[in-house]
Amino acid sequence: MSCEISFYLNGKRVTIPDPAPDLLLIDYLRSPEIGLAGPKKSCGQGGCGACTVILSHWNGEKAEHRAINSCLRPVCALNGLVVTTVEGTGSVRRPNPHLLQHSLVSSRSAAPTTATLPHELQVAEAASRQKSNAVLASVKEAREVQTGSPVFRLVASTAEQPSQLTFEGMNPVAYRLALNNGSQCGYCSVGFVMNMSEFIINHPESTKKEIEDAFDGNICRCTGYRAILTGMKTFASNWTAEDEKYRMKCLPDPTGASQLPGPLVIPFPPEARASANP
Ligand code: FES
Ligand code: FES
Repeated sequence: MSCEISFYLNGKRVTIPDPAPDLLLIDYLRSPEIGLAGPKKSCGQGGCGACTVILSHWNGEKAEHRAINSCLRPVCALNGLVVTTVEGTGSVRRPNPHLLQHSLVSSRSAAPTTATLPHELQVAEAASRQKSNAVLASVKEAREVQTGSPVFRLVASTAEQPSQLTFEGMNPVAYRLALNNGSQCGYCSVGFVMNMSEFIINHPESTKKEIEDAFDGNICRCTGYRAILTGMKTFASNWTAEDEKYRMKCLPDPTGASQLPGPLVIPFPPEARASANP
């Protein structure tokens, strides 16, 4: 017996014939075929929040949005639902799918620096060097074949979201996170951004305390939480001029912190609403 799963991914309908029962949403998103590498797979156990995406459905009257851990969600349990990744909220260009692969390149063991690397690490290092050269070659090639501003043309060639061409439409949560220096290695950032994106849609009048409490499922190992939470709390209904006075200003802000780059848009296609109605 064959079985087909249909859902909406960043506003587009996706149909998967006979999906494996153990195929997880995070693995599907990050596969070279899909190439949505925004959500990260850090713990793979629902503990860190790095894989957060927004899952939406039509409740009969309006769209309901929930932030979920995509590392815990089987693709088989998505039929008729709407999935939004950070790319769908207006973010960055997709990487070239053929460069999407993970390699172990170093170890934290206490081996002396002069020691010969174990075979596995030598292989991993060679693979990493090869991948790095492939990235450089692909950037060089894109620059050579395009005319005009090289960086802009490179981005434009794979754009699917407005913010991939301009800063217009950039996710305002991501903007505030960056503005407040809340991202270092960036591995956790997408999880924080997507969790907050869902939270402010469902709780537009939330307070600083409520916002802080909403992040107990997100872990950051780099920045500490102060910068991240400051960025998020600038959305709070009780954020005051006094708070603004003490906010650490890390990046030059040509627009002023109170001006967002654009409204946050969760792409909920009308067909998803229609198909949810009997
Ligand atoms: Fe999903 Fe950590 S990777 S919660
Ligand atoms: Fe590196 Fe949070 S884990 S910025």
